[in-house]
Amino acid sequence: MKINIAIDGPSAAGKSSISDMLAESLGYTHLDTGAMYRAVALSALRNGIAYDDEEKIVAMIEAMKLEMLPDGRVILEGEDVSEKIRTDEISMGASDVSKLQGCREALVRMQQHICKDGGYILDGRDIGTVVLKDAPVKIYMVASPEARAQRRLLQNQSQGLLADYEQILEDIKKRDYQDMHREHSPLTKAEDAIEIDTSDMTKEEVRDAVLAIVKEKTGD
Ligand code: DC
Repeated sequence: MKINIAIDGPSAAGKSSISDMLAESLGYTHLDTGAMYRAVALSALRNGIAYDDEEKIVAMIEAMKLEMLPDGRVILEGEDVSEKIRTDEISMGASDVSKLQGCREALVRMQQHICKDGGYILDGRDIGTVVLKDAPVKIYMVASPEARAQRRLLQNQSQGLLADYEQILEDIKKRDYQDMHREHSPLTKAEDAIEIDTSDMTKEEVRDAVLAIVKEKTGD
């Protein structure tokens, strides 16, 4: 039987790439919930809506056409925005809109609907605590801010984006603080989540550690 798997943790802890690898190994689909908050931020920016204008953002989400394709592409109003949502400006914007309770409620509903039949790996900040409270496998992935900044630096360099280590480190710490201290569903480890520190692990080691946990819980 296909279950749903919850993966939470701060930015650049490796959640997304590990979720892709797990999806491949298990024949599951990866849903990157952070990309949904990013799409909301991009749409707000394009529509001239302030990131803290809850009423307008909620109305915008209700009218918005957002498709999360199983291959990871993000389609907003028919346009592939998968790369446009990865800028540093949108990263901070996503963290800003994610503070709004109305925005969270709308996106959580969409996420729960997408994975209702099982077979999904959801990565985000509130998956184990809110979206999939009953998920049989919950992982809380962490890594030191320095290890995460180093990874983001390499990622950015390969994509021609911001490549200033100190700036990236500062942005990571700022976003961590904001994500962990917001009023609604702050980033926190679910009581029944298993913590994995990926700082000194290869992606393959992390994948295998999670696969072992899945096997233990499900027998698969
Ligand atoms: O995972 P990410 O860095 O792409 O997420 C972007 C922002 O969206 C992050 O700073 C916090 C927010 N987010 C959230 O509040 N809840 C989620 N489930 C996923 C992301």
